Amino acid sequence: MTRVGSDTGRRSAAWFGSSGRTGFIYRSWVRAEGFTPEVFDGRPVIGIASSESELTPCNSHLGRVAEAVKRGVWQAGGFPLEFPTMSLGETLLRPTAMLYRNLMAMEVEESLRANPLDGVVLLSGCDKTTPAMLMGAASVDMPAILVTGGPMLRGRWHGRDIGSGTDVWRLTEEQRAGRLSAEDVLEAETCMNRSNGHCMTMGTASTMACMAEALGMSLKGSAAVPAADAGRLRIGQLAGQRIVEMVRSGGPRPSEVMTRDAFENAIRANAAIGGSTNAVIHLVAIAGRVGVRLDLEDFDQLAGEVPLLVDLMPSGSWLMEDFYDAGGLPVVLAELARAGMLHEDAGTVSGISMGEQVAGSTTWRPDVVHPMADPVQPPGSGTAVLRGNLCPDGAVLKVSAASPHLLRHRGRAVVFDSLEDYLDKSESDELDVAADDVLVLRYAGPRGYPGMPEVGNLPLPAKILRDGVTDMVRISDARMSGTGYGTVVLHVAPEAAAGGPLALVRTGDVVVLDVAARRLDIEVADGELAERRTAWSPPAPVADRGWTRLYVDHVLQANHGCDLDFLVGSSGDGVPRENH
Ligand code: FES
Repeated sequence: MTRVGSDTGRRSAAWFGSSGRTGFIYRSWVRAEGFTPEVFDGRPVIGIASSESELTPCNSHLGRVAEAVKRGVWQAGGFPLEFPTMSLGETLLRPTAMLYRNLMAMEVEESLRANPLDGVVLLSGCDKTTPAMLMGAASVDMPAILVTGGPMLRGRWHGRDIGSGTDVWRLTEEQRAGRLSAEDVLEAETCMNRSNGHCMTMGTASTMACMAEALGMSLKGSAAVPAADAGRLRIGQLAGQRIVEMVRSGGPRPSEVMTRDAFENAIRANAAIGGSTNAVIHLVAIAGRVGVRLDLEDFDQLAGEVPLLVDLMPSGSWLMEDFYDAGGLPVVLAELARAGMLHEDAGTVSGISMGEQVAGSTTWRPDVVHPMADPVQPPGSGTAVLRGNLCPDGAVLKVSAASPHLLRHRGRAVVFDSLEDYLDKSESDELDVAADDVLVLRYAGPRGYPGMPEVGNLPLPAKILRDGVTDMVRISDARMSGTGYGTVVLHVAPEAAAGGPLALVRTGDVVVLDVAARRLDIEVADGELAERRTAWSPPAPVADRGWTRLYVDHVLQANHGCDLDFLVGSSGDGVPRENH
């Protein structure tokens, strides 16, 4: 007879190892799913947290990945239990998926802690689902491995590659300028997204998959394997095997993997891959959950030493399928290691050090992943952190996605208090704007919008586009899609709705951007700014109840990662009290 209810000292034993009425209840209802009693013999119970959803197209295939994880868990002698989490679809959610990242993180955290789980495999894909999973798991701190659903196959249209997101901006701007027909754009819409998976540019989803791997929270090579490649399921199966070993050996736990060194590796990796500016916000938030403090200056300092090695859209030419062909992130990390820019002792969920994990990786496609000696762009082309009287708590700009001639610019501010106001006016030839003006969008920050939408790369005014201009300096307290590009200053902090100086700018003020000096200022005297502040009043509250109210009351500014103040840190994986 199978022995059930053995006390292994694991979390799950507090449920399935119980005797009497409570053990009966915990086991019997699970057996209604058709399991034999062996599943309660003390083996590790592994949660598979799946953000699969048809409302999140990038994650809609995660059920297949979950099946592969289960294979691995069973193979290694564990007991897998899949459960759904909240899911965040970047393209469909309104007002913005970012409004819900912390809600998903909180939901993941509470689901993990409240259930009889010893370890978890986190399945994510679309932009916010990866940081939300990592934040939630970090606050529980039980053994965890993150497996993303992988990028889509490359888009193909008119005999050339097109990249999700990046070419949406390009093609629709071409259409607005009258150089492409509506039929052309409709055809491109059909051709862009050819398979399951997340955006296949180096947008936020690809970036965060790379960040998870650089942090040591995913298996080697995981980030680049396309969703449609059989390798994606192999990664899932291997993760299932490995999480069982981790539970048996007592770790490592997320707090043991995601150390200060691991975050420094991730920051440098982000510079080398030309990753999304959103990584700054997400890494700060994840770090906060494991007690690691990251300042914006850490990004500037660490990333400033690293050249751009990966030639992927939106900064470059290729797509994630090419990155996979080239060898993926291990090649980039190995290049950093050879240059002395990687903390090789940092741990990984594989149980070996990061240095051991990437040792010997070399590029198969030097046109896609360049060697350190021949970079795509020199050091300092990643995320620049700006300070000045317009952004005392910082702002960011992605140098590799900007126009070199605009990195030092002095221009007249043209100010808009809402995206809707800008979009209403931007098509009109009556709009008083010139190519060397600076477009300023405010009240689009974490509290102001709310949720800090990805609208910072404002589409250029129609009359400017018709003149053949493709870039202008744009400044906002919003974010930008990781697939976006342009000379775009983002994450201005404090945001306008919190009374930051951005709220005091007026159309006609002169704005000075000097990326080399890391400065962003307005040429307005302090006394004048003080007078404007006295006349300023905060906007009306955007919500009086529900999640949005909680979010607006507690969200931190962009330089602190936009987590909720009371979610920073960890509550551990202690077993909640019994209820029978
Ligand atoms: Fe989901 Fe781009 S829309 S990753």
